[in-house]
Amino acid sequence: MAKRIIAKDGDESLRKRCKDVTVFDDKLWTMLDDMYETMQEANGVGLAAPQVGILRRCVIVVDENDEMLELVNPEVIERSEEIQDGFEGCLSVPGMWGMVERPMRVKVRAQDRTGAFFEAEGAGIVARCFCHEIDHLDGHLFTELTDHLYTQKELDEMMEAEEGKKR
Ligand code: CO
Repeated sequence: MAKRIIAKDGDESLRKRCKDVTVFDDKLWTMLDDMYETMQEANGVGLAAPQVGILRRCVIVVDENDEMLELVNPEVIERSEEIQDGFEGCLSVPGMWGMVERPMRVKVRAQDRTGAFFEAEGAGIVARCFCHEIDHLDGHLFTELTDHLYTQKELDEMMEAEEGKKR
C-alpha cells in the first residue's frame, strides 16, 4: 500500500465528473487500499477518488461504528425531508469550515470491490459524509453550498462561545 497526495482546491481533478468503475480488478483494490491509508494518515472520515487524482466513482466513508465503508459507483437513492445544518470541512480545503445543509438521513446504493451491489443507510454525520463524498464524484465541493467559510480559529471561537452559553 502507498499513501497518495491529496489534491487541494484549485486542482482541476476536483472539478471533473468521474467515470463509472467497470472493472473490479486488483488495480481497483490497490487504489481503494491506498485511499484508506491516505485518509487515515490525514485523520479524515471520508475520501473520494478524485481527491487523490483518480477520476473514478469511488469513495470511502467511516460509518457510525468507525468501520470503513467502500462505495463504488455510489448513488443516493433516498433523502429524508428532514434536514440538518452543520459544519463541514474537506481534506482538499484544509483549515476551512462552512455551515452546510444536508438531509438528516440518506440511503445509498453502491457496489463493493467485487462488483456486488448493496445498500447502505446513514444518519447525521454519516449521511453528511455520504452526500459530501458523492458530490466529489461530480466535481462539487462543499464550499459551493455555504455562504461563508470559517477558519479553524473562527470555528474554535464559535464553539467556545456556544459552550459558554450552555454553562
Ligand atoms: Co471532501
